Amino acid sequence: MELRELARRILDGGRLEDKYFFPDDPGVLADEVRGPAMPWEPPARCPELQIAPRGERLKFPSPQNLGDPEMAVRALHTFANHELMAVELMAWALVAYPEAPAEFRAGMVRLLRDEQRHLRLYADRIEELGGRFGSLPMNDHFWRCAADLTTPMKWICAMNLTFEQGNLDHAPHFAEHFRTCGDEKTAELLDVIFEDEIHHVGFGVRWLKEFKDPEQSLFEAYVENLTFHNEPERARGEGYRRDARRRAGFDESFIAALADL
Ligand SMILES: [Fe+2]
Ligand SMILES: [Fe+2]
Repeated sequence: MELRELARRILDGGRLEDKYFFPDDPGVLADEVRGPAMPWEPPARCPELQIAPRGERLKFPSPQNLGDPEMAVRALHTFANHELMAVELMAWALVAYPEAPAEFRAGMVRLLRDEQRHLRLYADRIEELGGRFGSLPMNDHFWRCAADLTTPMKWICAMNLTFEQGNLDHAPHFAEHFRTCGDEKTAELLDVIFEDEIHHVGFGVRWLKEFKDPEQSLFEAYVENLTFHNEPERARGEGYRRDARRRAGFDESFIAALADL
């Protein structure tokens, strides 16, 4: 199975099972026939996974209220939707950038697999708490940025280095709140996602180093390639985790520059 076929299956299938699709044996995946570059188009979504109009979206719960299962479900539903959009944006990267290095595309498949796993972890936890993924309104946050991601460099700057880098602070922040509310199980789920996210941000750092002009600093190259809706402030959250960023491979000057914005 070609990577572009894997991608099309995820993008063109609207049900949750389609978004989870991955071959049982990853050895069947090939990257020989890449096809033309495909511009962004909103992926298929079955009726219950549709994006909700703005006025219908629910307010994100206060972290102090996460001990209430209804509020926990509401928060996890938002996180699961981010995972679903990450799955779709990663699948799209496989058809958007046929010219990208084979190693970049192979790495993207590994990230995609992780995001599918994250989506399932959240969807399962939502059910354990009495909810169902797809039952609450969804936003189109990542979709709105996608059309501007015209190069792999812009893609990594938006996805790995902004959204996912932000999660290096958000995931442990919410883990702490769930723990404080006595929900150790959800806290552990967020710990798992945090560890994976370090690798995902690391993928972005590795390719930022590769793609950037050698004269530029990492931070200059990052800021220069940011697109609509991806202000660098979105790459950090409450409690700036310098260690997580070191583990992801950022240099000290990048870590300091983002902190000082
Ligand atoms: Fe994820
Ligand atoms: Fe991720």
